[in-house]
Amino acid sequence: MGKIICVVGARPNFMKIAPVMEALRRVAPSFELVLVHTGQHYDAAMNEQHFTALGIPRPDINLEVGSGTHALQTAEVMRRFEPVVDQASPIAVLVVGDVNSTLACSLVAAKKNIPVIHVEAGLRSGDRTMPEEINRVLTDQMADLLLTTERSAADNLIREGVDPARIHFVGNVMIDTLRLNLPRAVPTAKTVQEAGGLANFPTGPKQYAVLTLHRPSNVDDARVLRTLLETINEMSRDVPVLFPIHPRTRDKIERFGLTELVSAPTLLLLPPLGYLEMLGLMKDARVVLTDSGGIQEETTALGVPCITLRSTTERPITAEQGTNTVVGQNRERILAVFRDILVTGGKTGRIPELWDGHAAERVARVLIGRYLPAPKIKVA
Ligand code: UD1
Repeated sequence: MGKIICVVGARPNFMKIAPVMEALRRVAPSFELVLVHTGQHYDAAMNEQHFTALGIPRPDINLEVGSGTHALQTAEVMRRFEPVVDQASPIAVLVVGDVNSTLACSLVAAKKNIPVIHVEAGLRSGDRTMPEEINRVLTDQMADLLLTTERSAADNLIREGVDPARIHFVGNVMIDTLRLNLPRAVPTAKTVQEAGGLANFPTGPKQYAVLTLHRPSNVDDARVLRTLLETINEMSRDVPVLFPIHPRTRDKIERFGLTELVSAPTLLLLPPLGYLEMLGLMKDARVVLTDSGGIQEETTALGVPCITLRSTTERPITAEQGTNTVVGQNRERILAVFRDILVTGGKTGRIPELWDGHAAERVARVLIGRYLPAPKIKVA
């Protein structure tokens, strides 16, 4: 009844596309799905292990774009995606999140008058220095259907002139993935052991903190990165820290000569982890420190305190209703919030509206309503 091209490019896309494709297959089997991987992320650790763990079908097409400057990466995705679209003649292109691949594929489709479906539309940090913010704003301007995770997103979109009839509040598909996979989360002890960590590193519930760091604003400036790592070292004396490290961050630490700051026995570096390993780490953590968008939402869903090492968030509901505190990069402020969490246990939070494990089904129903012709009623 019509092809829909589903696009993924980078790690945070995988946990969003998995439930959407599953729900479309189940609820709307008349759509033919084509999965395109742009190859923005390509390392096995950033890539294949997620497909396997999340049961995502093998991509029908991999554009193998790889890394590059923003312009080069975006342009290369566009160049390689265009013939795929021409050949497939889809009725729509479905994109998720806010990475460069999201924007590039939306732009190709929109210029060919092919409807763009954006899952996770309308999130805004207000910070245009973030590449993701540019990707979000532009993708939403081109989208035909805008599917949102929290109510504030519709306000943002309407302010930017989007027709409210195209916006649908469906909830958070990433939390579908989290709820489905929680029983399969890998125990932290096993993850640490497999990474060659010391046998006596504390891995029991609430015995450790988790850190992730990869935003250019945190890792591309030597001074900022140094301050953050010094602060983390200080914290790790109170609660040992597990640090699954993004390839970009590892590279910067080496380049800036900061390896000494990740060498303390209380700060354990781990390779980029699979989804089920990361879920295990987060669910038992005393506190999670991060600059990721998705982790702010996942910790809220898990009820685990989260300290966001950025000065803004595009996911305000995690701070208003969830367990998240947005602290920025200031050492004193980070330590104050951290110590408060150690004393009080931090925010308990509540689960936001429609983060109920059924968001992808709602996505599928919206797509049926929009792209499947209503059955013809015979008038006698
Ligand atoms: C991208 C997304 C970001 C997301 C993040 C999750 C954009 C603008 N950014 O950032 O929103 O939070 O993914 O990881 O799309 N690299 C590897 N192996 C890989 C991929 C990357 O070594 O498989 C290294 C390369 O040195 C590369 C660097 O990481 O240059 C950055 O990769 P890139 O895809 O440009 O952006 P991320 O920082 O991963």
